[in-house]
Amino acid sequence: MARELSTIGVVGLGTMGAGIVEVFARNGLDVVAVEADPAGLERGKGHLEHSTGRAVARGKLSEAEQAELIGRVRFASSLEDLADCDLVVEAVPEQLNLKREIFGKLDSIVRADAILATNTSSLSVTEISVATHNPRRVVGLHFFNPAPVLKFVEVIRTVVTEDDVVDDVKALAARLGKMPVVVGDKAGFIANALLFGYLNHAVSMFESRYATREDIDAAMQLGCGLPMGPLALMDLIGLDTAYEILDTMYKQGRDRLHAPSPILKQMVTAGLKGRKSGQGFYKYAEAGSSAVV
Ligand code: 3HC
Repeated sequence: MARELSTIGVVGLGTMGAGIVEVFARNGLDVVAVEADPAGLERGKGHLEHSTGRAVARGKLSEAEQAELIGRVRFASSLEDLADCDLVVEAVPEQLNLKREIFGKLDSIVRADAILATNTSSLSVTEISVATHNPRRVVGLHFFNPAPVLKFVEVIRTVVTEDDVVDDVKALAARLGKMPVVVGDKAGFIANALLFGYLNHAVSMFESRYATREDIDAAMQLGCGLPMGPLALMDLIGLDTAYEILDTMYKQGRDRLHAPSPILKQMVTAGLKGRKSGQGFYKYAEAGSSAVV
């Protein structure tokens, strides 16, 4: 029978990390949310208050429930605060060395029976796991943005991940109301491997002025019934994250579809990272907002 994981650590409170914290807290789990950057820590707190506040405004959560939910999250700035966690989910930017450094440190901080998970979108879980002394307890747990809304997670099993670890994480995902799917450790797993060629193609169409951003998005949203168009989705994902994912997949598979469109790198360099920076393919009312101006 799967072990019950009740105290969860989350490392990194960017777009994904903040959403993942909310998912766990909404489902009654105690969370330790760690972010080393003081401004990032404040943004993480603000995200939880704002997102749950929206649920209160929509009548989906009472103020008392909101307070209880927020009370389940302890915000901290040091990895040492994760010592008592049953599971730690790392959600820092998509840089292999950074993730490996964090796993190396976590290895000596958490209990020997704690599970270490990475939310990486495309990096090798195996390469991250071997930064620890016990790669058998390392697994991928890949959420989709917005994490509180989308009901699917990929559980990435390396060639050494223990069966019990996979089972425990699958049971936890089910408790979160997500459908878990177990996949092997190949860049992009299932969803990103299928999605990012399409997104990159849309960026190329925009870059070559083949069509306007509005028309590209309308074609897929109104013409194909997707919840949002590809350029709006790139803005939601974050152009920096999208670039890293494409770059990693291209280096691994050498599929032309994944060679990042040049404009993507230019936009990231210029600070146009999508919703999180207030501008990407579209301009937003403020950083983090979904309101296009
Ligand atoms: N955090 C928490 N909740 C959010 C949210 C967020 N960031 N954004 C939206 N929501 C909630 C709203 O509160 C609302 O909740 P309710 O129904 O309980 O009131 C619900 O989602 C619907 O929101 P809205 O009415 O504001 O807007 P839409 O109906 O237009 O939905 C959307 C917005 C959920 C973003 C939808 O457009 C969508 O699903 N888009 C596609 C997203 C997608 O494809 N994601 C995958 C990206 S790939 C990925 O994540 C992999 C990674 O590795 C990069």
